[in-house]
Amino acid sequence: MARITAGVATSHVPAIGAAIDQGMTGTDYWAPLFRGYEFSKQWIAKSKPDVVFLVYNDHATAFGLDLFPTFALGCGEEFKPADEGWGPRPVPIVKGHPDLAWHITQSVIQDDFDLTVINEMDVDHGLTVPLSLMFGQPEAWPCRIIPFAVNVVVYPPPSGQRCYNLGKAIRRAIESFDEDLNVHIWGTGGMSHQLQGPRAGLINKEWDNAFLDQIVANPRGLAAKPHLEYVREAGSEGIELVMWLIMRGALDDEVVQRHRFYHVPASNTAVGHLILENSSQVEEI
Ligand code: DHB
Ligand code: FE
Repeated sequence: MARITAGVATSHVPAIGAAIDQGMTGTDYWAPLFRGYEFSKQWIAKSKPDVVFLVYNDHATAFGLDLFPTFALGCGEEFKPADEGWGPRPVPIVKGHPDLAWHITQSVIQDDFDLTVINEMDVDHGLTVPLSLMFGQPEAWPCRIIPFAVNVVVYPPPSGQRCYNLGKAIRRAIESFDEDLNVHIWGTGGMSHQLQGPRAGLINKEWDNAFLDQIVANPRGLAAKPHLEYVREAGSEGIELVMWLIMRGALDDEVVQRHRFYHVPASNTAVGHLILENSSQVEEI
């Protein structure tokens, strides 16, 4: 059967993608940020996922006011990097896993969560920047990737509780797929940032670090946080953090924290990153 072995959380700041694409990762501004991902690249090269179930948000690139699904699952064969206004990023095309994606669609919808199916879509920095941070600059991404888009751009976003419960349904779906696959689930976006209005530039280190503590040790408590608290304390774009709860809901109650990194700022954003392994999957030495 397929099994979820690990979860990864990471921010997705578009300027990080530009720094990688333009060969600027070693500059004084960027080097401390990329140092926080050195362990992660080694870890994932050893963990070798067959599939990454990648929870992210589209930033009015593929979707917009004309159509904005709350939860949308990529069932297509492949997804191209999007042109967000300055040409597509020079990164590989995302190869999906249609069989597993359709299995998850069926299982999760029949488990009472409504999903939108996407067969054709370009993927923006919300998906490609986490891939670049974790895998660097390969010719091809080293595994299949199932995009799972969550609306956190147009009001109303889904609640943290719904995201956490949905993670559990996604886990049931993946673990009932009859193929021996090593699956990672990633929750992306955040941490605190606000890109607009009088509070633009808001960062809240204390709140972010409490969030990092809680998502590891007390995810059920964290799931109860109302969305207004995210917006008030972590800024209007801090609401992206509800996506981390989908990842966390899909893991064991008890997880092993392999890596934690926090860095301020990257562009306008506080960057947070966690690697969590499922306790039930950790091979004892
Ligand atoms: C920035 C952060 C984001 O999450 C985003 O989607 C766009 C921009 C930033 O910090 O510049
Ligand atoms: Fe964003």
